Amino acid sequence: ASGCKIGPSILNSDLANLGAECLRMLDSGADYLHLDTLLQKVPSRKKHKIIMKQASLMNSFFIRVKHFVPNITFGHPVVESLRKQLGQDPFFDMHMMVSRPEQWVKPMAVAGANQYTFHLEATENPGALIKDIRENGMKVGLAIKPGTTVEYLAPWANQIDMALVMTVEPGFGGQKFMEDMMPKVHWLRTQFPSLDIEVDGGVGPDTIHKCAEAGANMIVSGSAIMRSEDPRSVISLLRSVCSE
Ligand code: DX5
Ligand code: ZN
Repeated sequence: ASGCKIGPSILNSDLANLGAECLRMLDSGADYLHLDTLLQKVPSRKKHKIIMKQASLMNSFFIRVKHFVPNITFGHPVVESLRKQLGQDPFFDMHMMVSRPEQWVKPMAVAGANQYTFHLEATENPGALIKDIRENGMKVGLAIKPGTTVEYLAPWANQIDMALVMTVEPGFGGQKFMEDMMPKVHWLRTQFPSLDIEVDGGVGPDTIHKCAEAGANMIVSGSAIMRSEDPRSVISLLRSVCSE
C-alpha cells in the first residue's frame, strides 16, 4: 500500500519511563503512537464463536463479559500526562481493549486522544458509540479479535476511519503473528478501498510483507521496534517495505 504509517506500540516499553519512550519513538520517525489501554479478560474462542453464530450479520451483537483481556496498562490520566509532555502534534491511537468502551470516550477525548479504537466484541451498540466518539472530536477505529469474522465489521465500515484487524489475541506484546488473519485484511481492502486498515500483533521486519501485500496501511509494531537497538532503521524498513 502506498503511504503506510508506522505506529509503535509502547506496551512493551519501560512503562515507568513512558514519556521518554514515546519521545524516543517519535524521534525515531514514528508516524503515530499506538497506546494500548487494556483491562480485563477475553471470552474463550469457542464460546465466542458460538455467540457469533447466534448473532445475525447485520445486527449489532453483544457479548457480556466481565473482562476483556487478562492484563492492565494505563488509562486516561496517563494519556493526559503524555499529551502535556509531548505537545499537540503526536497522533494518539487509543487501542481500547476494555469491556465497556462507552465509559472512556469523554475522558480520553479530554485527555487528548486523537483516535478511539474500540472492539466490536465489547459493545452492544457500535452505532451509538461511533457517534459518541465523533461528537467528542476523535477519529473512530473499530477492532476485531482473531476469532471474529470480518463480515461483522462490514456494516460499520463506511462510518469509521480505521479498521483494526488483530493479528494476535489481544492482551500482550511479543506474541506470534497470525498469518491466517491476512484474508480479512485483503477482503476489507477489496470492499473498502479508501478505508485505513491497521494490523496489530507480531508485526515486524519478518511479517510486514504479508501485511502490505494484503493491503494494510497502518502498521502497529511493538516488540520488533522497542527491543531493537536501532528503532529508527526498523521503522524506516517497515515503512519502505509497506509502501512499495
Ligand atoms: C496486543 C496489543 C498490541 C501489542 C503489539 O494486545 O494490542 O498493540 O502491544 O505488540 P507486538 O508488536 O510485540 O505484538
Ligand atoms: Zn494494540
